Amino acid sequence: MAFEFCSRHINEYHQLGFTVFRDLVPAALLADLRREADKGREIARQRSGADAQRLQPIHTYPDRIDMKPFDDYHNHPPLVKGLNELFAEEFGQPVDTHGTREHFAVLYEPSTRPWCTQWHRDWRDNIKGLSVPAWEKVMLDVRLFNQVNFALYDDACTWVVPGSHLRRDTPEEILRFPERPINGPNTEGMDDTQAELTCREYTASMPGGFQAQLNAGDYMLYRNSLWHTGNYVPYRKRSTIHDGIFTPQFKQFFLNPPYKPKKADGASADWDNPNLDTAAYRSWKSRQAATAAATV
Ligand SMILES: [Fe+2]
Repeated sequence: MAFEFCSRHINEYHQLGFTVFRDLVPAALLADLRREADKGREIARQRSGADAQRLQPIHTYPDRIDMKPFDDYHNHPPLVKGLNELFAEEFGQPVDTHGTREHFAVLYEPSTRPWCTQWHRDWRDNIKGLSVPAWEKVMLDVRLFNQVNFALYDDACTWVVPGSHLRRDTPEEILRFPERPINGPNTEGMDDTQAELTCREYTASMPGGFQAQLNAGDYMLYRNSLWHTGNYVPYRKRSTIHDGIFTPQFKQFFLNPPYKPKKADGASADWDNPNLDTAAYRSWKSRQAATAAATV
């Protein structure tokens, strides 16, 4: 059934931090998008290796990839209508669906080796030297941090913690990832099957984690300030458009993120740990110290 926006999408987006526009595009446009997006797979692998995750931005290959289907997607009336019903009032202006044309990407499956990204909230946990207090001040601003995974084939790679965009970390989340930087699983020396199971175990280990199941043509809009991760295997074909919603306020943040001052030698400042002031972190730290003392 063709996609129709309704108030459920607004409620889901604000309460859970994500919503899915199911069956967003008709078959003809989906076929055009697949044809052009699939051309980027080899370019990405030539550029970044056999397990390249993405080609970004894709508009820089006009001789190899026809951008018309992507423009058609950004002009698609049900998408424009849905995004405006969701955002225009809070943005104070219409949504610019072409605002990300210079940035947006296609995500692909690895060709040789399963792997996963580390659990994170964007900016806070994946940008070294960022000021976490400055990020926390704006994490609830709906004009910022709106991201999209638009699946051209069935895609179950993305995991989220619903509702985490509205709050700081729970004690369970702090205990799962007490230190910064957050690391993914170590699969070095494992065969591919063991690596796959290890990545899945890591992904599923997050308290409250939820695996988003997207069918071909489903458009998942999410707050990238919520906890999320991705888990990838070579045997499941993936071409997923990775897009966002650019507002003037987010463009400003994107171009001028709140970094802490660099070190004297010019290197980035260290990672901020957002949970140092919590009881959960302090008790974890004292247990670590006690264990270390007992083993000396
Ligand atoms: Fe992310």
